[in-house]
Amino acid sequence: MQASHLHTMIAALPLDRALPEPLFRQLYAGLKAAILDGSIGPGMQLPPTRDFCQLLAVSRQTVLNAYALLTAEGYLDGAVGRGTFVSRDVRVSIAPAAAAPDLLRPLSERGQRVVRAMDQVAFHRGPLRAFRVGMPRIDHFPFDVWNRLEARRWRHPDHHFGYSDPAGYLPLRELLCVYLQASRGVQCTPQQIVITSGSQQALFLLSTILLAPGDSAWMESPGYRGASGPLRASGAQVFPVPVDAQGLDVAYGAMHCPQAKLLYVTPSHQLPLGVSMSLPRRLALLAWAAQQKAWVVEDDYDSEYRYTGAPLASLQSLDRAGCVVYVGTLSKVLFPGLRLGYMVAPPALAEALVQAKAVADRHTAIVPQMALADFIAEGHFGRHIRRTRDSNAERRDLLLRGIARELGDQLACGPADSGLELCAYFRHAHHEEEAVARAGLERGVELRPLGHYADPAAGPACATPPGLLLGFAAIPPAEIEHGLRELGRILRGR
Ligand SMILES: Cc1ncc(COP(=O)(O)O)c(C=O)c1O
Repeated sequence: MQASHLHTMIAALPLDRALPEPLFRQLYAGLKAAILDGSIGPGMQLPPTRDFCQLLAVSRQTVLNAYALLTAEGYLDGAVGRGTFVSRDVRVSIAPAAAAPDLLRPLSERGQRVVRAMDQVAFHRGPLRAFRVGMPRIDHFPFDVWNRLEARRWRHPDHHFGYSDPAGYLPLRELLCVYLQASRGVQCTPQQIVITSGSQQALFLLSTILLAPGDSAWMESPGYRGASGPLRASGAQVFPVPVDAQGLDVAYGAMHCPQAKLLYVTPSHQLPLGVSMSLPRRLALLAWAAQQKAWVVEDDYDSEYRYTGAPLASLQSLDRAGCVVYVGTLSKVLFPGLRLGYMVAPPALAEALVQAKAVADRHTAIVPQMALADFIAEGHFGRHIRRTRDSNAERRDLLLRGIARELGDQLACGPADSGLELCAYFRHAHHEEEAVARAGLERGVELRPLGHYADPAAGPACATPPGLLLGFAAIPPAEIEHGLRELGRILRGR
């Protein structure tokens, strides 16, 4: 390559001063990519650093830092006064830079199951807007307090900063035990609690160690894809069980899938229909599970936010057979990005789950666990729940009133006495969920079709009337009003 070409290529290296990544790192990455794809070949001399800084309008130190890193990694050879050269030992890739090589070999069978298990999950994208589901009110969170609590821990690192207990930080498990007993009637000792990276990891670990490929598992339909994903990933046959006004239809499951080894339920607040499981259903579920020796996974994800009366007692509190694993999360009560959750296992299962957690990631990051323990112990947790519950209730009321006022002829709301979202059914059969959701996106409004939660393999017994799940807790009042106006226009075809 001629020197002039090399200079042109270097001048075109993409450097963006707006990025948080330092310029020398960007320069390092650009040069490395050019060396690896052969644009700058082995043995070629790079321009002296002074020329280089002029070409790119960067400081000499930036170039020296990038050269130093590339030299340390073996891409460049240099000697003072002799110049800097691309190492002759670098093996360049002959393929054109744009063409990514094919997958080296097929994924394993298990790998394919894992990869496919949640392939249609909708991840949140872009700024918050009406009516995003699953989101708590993050701007209510006392980040200043959290910052202070974490900073205090960082100032005094102790032995926990090494590898620590896979079950999680013991003082946190002790505090959770007291909290869960008081608020949800959960009966446990700290030794039964395993701290996880969100409830997602708990669901994954449970599916992994409790189910063999081919085992059957009941799954609410419609239901939470974050739960059916891990079940499928384990190779289980997911059996969709309908949900009615009393919750999961236990008799249906017992009749059509008596061989189930695991039953997944959201008894406090069914996702997405919002119903709470009645006491007779709870007792029937536990009796059946105990008799069949099937595990019950109780996913209690948002029951802190109950707007009428006290939170309902958990299924776990009624379990006498040691079949219920209670799964909780801090994602809704604090915020999802924290990635903290927990499971409360029957005593005989706890140690196995601790071992599985160790295999997955040794343990959850220690400082957030410590900060959470302090957050609970110093009363911030209780205060945050109370404050946020009031705010959520106001937004829920605003949404319910708005629907009644402006869309009462179009939508009928499902139960709305807890959680962060509610479901609204179309009153007119001609509306199609997907079409309404698409029209919503065109107008900047997120409208989650209830069909998103349906198992495609479910039969007519699981059919639910068409409608939408509407998140309200995180959505500011003006945005709720805006969303309702747009939804009204869509439903009325304007
Ligand atoms: C039913 C259900 N369980 C659990 C969660 C929380 O998952 P995680 O703790 O992994 O954030 C959600 C979040 O949307 C949910 O809807």
